[in-house]
Amino acid sequence: MHLETALVHTRDELGAARGAMGGSVAAVMTMGALHDGHRALLRAARERADHVITTVFVNPLQFGPNEDFDRYPRTLDADLAICAEAGVDLVFAPDRAEMYPSGEPMVRVNPGPLGERLEGASRPGFFHGVLTVVLKLLQVTRPDLAFFGEKDYQQLTLVRRMVRDLDVPVEIVGVPTVREPDGLALSSRNRYLAPAERQAALTLSAALRAGVEAAAQGRDAEAAARASFDSGTAGGAGLAKLDYLVLTDPDLGPAPARGPGRLLVAAWVGSTRLIDNAAVEVAPAT
Ligand code: PAF
Repeated sequence: MHLETALVHTRDELGAARGAMGGSVAAVMTMGALHDGHRALLRAARERADHVITTVFVNPLQFGPNEDFDRYPRTLDADLAICAEAGVDLVFAPDRAEMYPSGEPMVRVNPGPLGERLEGASRPGFFHGVLTVVLKLLQVTRPDLAFFGEKDYQQLTLVRRMVRDLDVPVEIVGVPTVREPDGLALSSRNRYLAPAERQAALTLSAALRAGVEAAAQGRDAEAAARASFDSGTAGGAGLAKLDYLVLTDPDLGPAPARGPGRLLVAAWVGSTRLIDNAAVEVAPAT
């Protein structure tokens, strides 16, 4: 157990602690409510770098007016314990005024056309908010590496793209999604789910599995995934409402006729919006 995780709330404190770090530095950005998915990010960061900085900030910029900003879980004490256990050197947990001292930023990162599709279509302005805070956190933590979960695949893709397009000197590392034994992808929002909704949420991962299997057999992955979702055989039929289910290439471009692709799904389960995705290998059509 690493007991020397320091907690800082201001940029000045962060700057001083960062300045004292020799060797390589990895950043893991979070909104708190840490779970095993974050533990995997922290572990991966710990393995690659001499120092790990975790940021904990529920970013108001990436929540729409009717979204869950107010009810988003805030669990800093538990988060700190997880960070200490994972060997994190420094936790930066700023408040809103520390991150946005002049109020809402006038200038924001424009995610381009990819930011308007999929999550961006359902959550206007979401990726402007995400990329703006990610860029700010990269500026203040100055990491050599930054780790993001594949669970938020469009976010990971856009962060990679931002770093490339804007010449941000950091290596972005993607970390595979962590799942419950029954397939549910870990998410801080899973704690909103009532038992019947928790069951219905399995519809997403079940649909992805059906799609992955179909693709490998040269069948239509999207159609198979949709049929699985609609059948509700995973449980909780009728409780999960599909937003999108789409096959793309690994960069979220058009679906490949063969080779590697990505299957992405988003659905409402009760009042909770869940997303998931999986790598697929598209075999030639049979
Ligand atoms: O993935 C998240 O938790 C957030 O979108 C991030 C990257 C911490 C930015 O607020």
